Amino acid sequence: MHQSRSSTQVTSPGKDTPTAHSGGDAGFGKKVVVSSVGKTFRTGGRITHAVEDATFIAEPGKFVSLIGPSGCGKTTVMRMVAGLLEPSTGTITIDGQSTTAARKQHAYGFVFQEATLLSWRTLLANVTMPLEVLGVGKAERRERGRQLLELVGLGDFLGHYPDQVSGGMQQRCSIARALSFQPGVLLMDEPFGALDLITRDRMGFELLRIWTAERSTVLFVTHSIEEAVLLSDVVLVFSARPGRIAEVVPIELPRPRTTDQRDDPRYHQYVRELRRMLDA
Ligand SMILES: Nc1ncnc2c1ncn2[C@@H]1O[C@H](COP(=O)(O)OP(=O)(O)OP(=O)(O)O)[C@@H](O)[C@H]1O
Ligand SMILES: [Mg+2]
Repeated sequence: MHQSRSSTQVTSPGKDTPTAHSGGDAGFGKKVVVSSVGKTFRTGGRITHAVEDATFIAEPGKFVSLIGPSGCGKTTVMRMVAGLLEPSTGTITIDGQSTTAARKQHAYGFVFQEATLLSWRTLLANVTMPLEVLGVGKAERRERGRQLLELVGLGDFLGHYPDQVSGGMQQRCSIARALSFQPGVLLMDEPFGALDLITRDRMGFELLRIWTAERSTVLFVTHSIEEAVLLSDVVLVFSARPGRIAEVVPIELPRPRTTDQRDDPRYHQYVRELRRMLDA
């Protein structure tokens, strides 16, 4: 197993072969470069060093997870990558451009812990909303929305309203919405946190299936070591506040990932290793 320190690039060993994980073109994924980024909050005379000297590269189309103790700055890093928050130090680029430029180009898709659907819109109308904003024609919008809802197993619920479906279904709809405009960077902050374990498990594999088709670069925050190992190309392990990237762990399990991989000794080795790093 390869490990490296915080300044090491997050690139998989197959970096020179763009087909490293699914054997297709590069997809929509954009390259995320985070260089020596720090964030200090000043609130009412109190200073919080939330993130310190975070450096990593997420190569286009890779699935990168962020794990670490509560309050170590994972959400702060995500918000800085999204351009919602200015770093205090360091720089972040998306395919070589500023986060502001990336936002203008609608490069980001978001999925948060709780589904954030509009209650007065049907699932289909929720999914097609970003496309509406982008000025995509009605027929094309509907077709794309329908396809995406099929993809997340909600093909029979296009006309349902959010409160007529379960929490897991709402979250799947949020994921479909985030993917509707094929974002270059998909930011997912504990997207499955509110789900029961069985739904959560299924959602992980559904996400991988969609991701393989769309190939956005994914930054995925989770508290589950198992989930991080099963889904990711690379896991970034954060230390306690001020958050630093203590370890960069490439997960070299074959794709497509399946539940059977839970029986793979290498899977258990990764899980053990990450747990040890988090306990350190
Ligand atoms: N807007 C803010 N103003 C002041 N302090 C903040 C702000 N946002 C975050 N912080 C502080 O920065 C630190 C990191 O917070 P952050 O939400 O990034 O942690 P996290 O790793 O996402 O935690 P969790 O796993 O609990 O979600 C915390 O100490 C938090 O209180
Ligand atoms: Mg958080």
